[in-house]
Amino acid sequence: MAELPLKDADLLAPGASHYRAFVGPPERYDFIAASQFALLFQLGLRDHNKVLDFGCGSLRLGRLLIPFLREAGYYGIDPNAWLIDEGIKHELGRSAITIKKPCFSYNDDFDCGVFGEQFDFVIAQSIITHTGPDLLHKMLSTVSGAIAENGIFVFSYISDPHCTGLPSNGWHYPGCVGYSQPSMEEILQQYGLSSIELPWYHPGARWCAAAPRKENLPGLDVMVNLNGLAVR
Ligand SMILES: C[S@@+](CC[C@H](N)C(=O)[O-])C[C@H]1O[C@@H](n2cnc3c(N)ncnc32)[C@H](O)[C@@H]1O
Repeated sequence: MAELPLKDADLLAPGASHYRAFVGPPERYDFIAASQFALLFQLGLRDHNKVLDFGCGSLRLGRLLIPFLREAGYYGIDPNAWLIDEGIKHELGRSAITIKKPCFSYNDDFDCGVFGEQFDFVIAQSIITHTGPDLLHKMLSTVSGAIAENGIFVFSYISDPHCTGLPSNGWHYPGCVGYSQPSMEEILQQYGLSSIELPWYHPGARWCAAAPRKENLPGLDVMVNLNGLAVR
């Protein structure tokens, strides 16, 4: 399947067993890659930062971020090792692994502490959109410990104003789950994280930033920039 011409892969259904389709609508593979990188850059990403790409999949972000960061700056967690392998084979290239020495974990425990590192950025794109409350709590209990004091957690989620209760527990895939904005904010607060929704376009969700220190959340200047730059 991975050998399909990309124009044919673009027509596959989200969740199909191709490295570009498994992680979402394949025709958005490039867009979601670039928009994640651009968002991190707007939020202050520099090449000496350490970044955890939680649920890194087929390196949609990693194919841009790994070459950009300095050696051992990129950390990815995903239990589907085949996605990481295909991403390296078809998008990134082995030389980037040799030169930049990214670290991978195939842990499926929603545990951000596996690397024993403190990250300037933790990003979880299209992860909480599939995560029931039990797994969200598990993840947040380790995210807060893995973020550096001045770090920031950036994630997409489905902000559903009609959501009265919480979604059911477990991993929902390729289906999605939503949370109301107040319930998400409250859950984040339980782990000492202040949060703010970001005016950065996402075709199926909302971007949110959370940080242990409120003053590290993006200020008005960044928010105005994000709003003006967002590609629609
Ligand atoms: C919608 S995809 C998003 C992938 C990537 N963040 C991106 O934007 O391309 C969801 C990803 O979550 C991964 N995943 C599933 N269970 C996981 C777990 N327990 N911990 C971390 N990632 C998981 C899947 O393998 C898949 O790559």
